[in-house]
Amino acid sequence: MTHRIAVIPGDGIGKEVMPEGLRALEAAASRFGIALELAHFDFASCDYYAEHGKMLPDDWFETLKDFDAILYGAVGWPATVPDHVSLWGSLLQFRRRFDQYINLRPCRLLPGIKSPLADRKPGDIDFYVVRENTEGEYSSVGGKMFEGTEREVVIQETVMTRHGTDRVLKFAYELAASRPRKKLTSATKSNGIAITMPWWDERVAEMGKRYPDVTVDQFHIDILTANFVMHPDWFDVVVASNLFGDILSDLGPACTGTIGVAPSANINPEGTFPSLFEPVHGSAPDIAGKGIANPIGQIWSGAMMLEHLGHKEASDAIVSAFEAVLAEGDRSVLTPDVGGSGTTESLGRAIAARLES
Ligand code: NAD
Ligand code: IPM
Ligand code: MN
Repeated sequence: MTHRIAVIPGDGIGKEVMPEGLRALEAAASRFGIALELAHFDFASCDYYAEHGKMLPDDWFETLKDFDAILYGAVGWPATVPDHVSLWGSLLQFRRRFDQYINLRPCRLLPGIKSPLADRKPGDIDFYVVRENTEGEYSSVGGKMFEGTEREVVIQETVMTRHGTDRVLKFAYELAASRPRKKLTSATKSNGIAITMPWWDERVAEMGKRYPDVTVDQFHIDILTANFVMHPDWFDVVVASNLFGDILSDLGPACTGTIGVAPSANINPEGTFPSLFEPVHGSAPDIAGKGIANPIGQIWSGAMMLEHLGHKEASDAIVSAFEAVLAEGDRSVLTPDVGGSGTTESLGRAIAARLES
């Protein structure tokens, strides 16, 4: 069976890390006899916008909907296209229209990488952020009134549905139940956000009745961020609304030394539509063009894609390959964010070489 993958590099370092993501993917596919058919697209990027005046072609949904998965780099180039235009015109459309309602973001301290937190070693930080990915604070409900006057009003509603909330909670409980610690933490703010968040807490408690083996706790988002830094070992699976999950999934990887290694899976669990795999990071204009971006976030996203497609062994082999290269600690190979003097390509090639050996 051939898996058809849509490949979209996007902008900035997306275009630099994608070739290394594909190098590792192809090495794993060849080692494990997996047939991949890659189709490359230049849309969902700000270069495409410059040429066409929009982020996506009109038939993008039809073009992508029958792929088995989408591998994305990063999108956004605020110097030429405002971020809300580029992001709402691309990635956020994919997540919503393909109903990728789970954003699964592992956060793990990897061998050879120094955590900015004192005395943390691999094993101390190993959890998942399960982020609601289609509603919540990222809503298009709202508007502006009296624009340009002293009475200007801007409103953007948070929209939480029972259907949308329960399905992400169910996924998070099931993930927690499948892990040895069986622990779920809910990110809330029911002290201050007094309508949606107390209701979120109720849904968490209600869903918990179905999972008596899972231990649940909850923290308000303010102290939760503090606890990510002070006690990252407390966490196993953390479930959060769209915005809280976004924040936690940069903070968690920052605690593991660099956001450059963090992957994500935007999953449509039913398989009605393709799921999308991308690093957590963005296009990083500050380092784009230098060839020094860490490609591991992209490579690990490819591993998550292989697991999603049913190839757990190949996925694990990719993870073992980058862990081995990191553990070896050859500074001339590693990128600067993890203390090296190497390049995106030197690190990508070393990982692919491990996979081939
Ligand atoms: P960013 O993630 O692009 O960069 C934040 C910081 O992390 C920068 O200092 C950058 O150099 C560093 N960094 C990021 N990835 C790295 C890597 N692989 N290796 C080494 N260092 C890395 O976030 P930002 O600066 O807030 O956003 C830049 C653009 O990307 C904006 O247009 C934003 O909207 C967009 N963005 C897109 C995505 C996405 O495509 N999923 C995610 C986040 C931000
Ligand atoms: C992410 C990004 C996006 C988000 C932005 C670029 C819209 O930060 O994937 O984490 O907020 O979801
Ligand atoms: Mn983010």
